Amino acid sequence: MYEPQYLFYHLNSTNYQSQIKYCPGESYNTKLQNKKYTLHPLDFNFIESVDGFKTRSTRIFNGQALSALELNLLLRNVYTLNVNTPSPAPSAGGLYPLELYVIANNISEVEKGIYHYNRQGTGLTFLHDSYDLSFLPPVNTFVKDAPLIIIMTASMEKLYSKYGERAYRYALIESGHIGQNISLYSWKNNLGCCAIGGFYDDVITSLLKLENNEIPIYIYAIGKDT
Ligand SMILES: Cc1cc2nc3c(=O)[nH]c(=O)nc-3n(C[C@H](O)[C@H](O)[C@H](O)COP(=O)(O)O)c2cc1C
Repeated sequence: MYEPQYLFYHLNSTNYQSQIKYCPGESYNTKLQNKKYTLHPLDFNFIESVDGFKTRSTRIFNGQALSALELNLLLRNVYTLNVNTPSPAPSAGGLYPLELYVIANNISEVEKGIYHYNRQGTGLTFLHDSYDLSFLPPVNTFVKDAPLIIIMTASMEKLYSKYGERAYRYALIESGHIGQNISLYSWKNNLGCCAIGGFYDDVITSLLKLENNEIPIYIYAIGKDT
């Protein structure tokens, strides 16, 4: 039987608890620094100051809870689908394959637990109250102190039936759009956040009881900056 190749890529790029690989990496421009590019004379001269978007990762949270209103506004601003209103993120073919799960660690008026976010922006469905954060590898244990953790997953079924193997790319790209929304919304609203790509997929899969065609993609830790 033909196995979708997104599963091949996903399973072969997963983190395992026993993984001991160490990849030192390189600073981003070391390979390019000897390359010379000619700037067009008009390119930058007329821009005196750029008041662009800024983000900075927060890995130390101040222990303060988020309010239920802050949670509500954040979710609705970063990912809401309503037929008559523009969506805050584009989606290939309008399929919107991403799902958001919320771990409410310290949100006032919201019971601690795991919830599924209804993308119409109408609320959260309570899944369960007991959870452990063993999906975090040692380098990311700081995430456990975040009052809010958002887990993005992709339901691959429709995406795959429309786009075939290209679907996996789209799932990753779309999570980047929502991630950027979270980063920018947080920055604008005095919240701190950190994008998390390092986690154990299999632990998330069993924590959220995901079916075969729903795969974990991206996590955000969000809270109040120190
Ligand atoms: C796809 C992706 C995955 C990331 N994964 C992690 C992670 O697992 N742990 C972590 O502490 N930071 C993670 N980060 C945050 C980066 O380390 C951070 O954005 C980068 O070092 C730049 O620093 P700044 O955000 O403070 O400007 C991730 C960022 C991205 C975009």
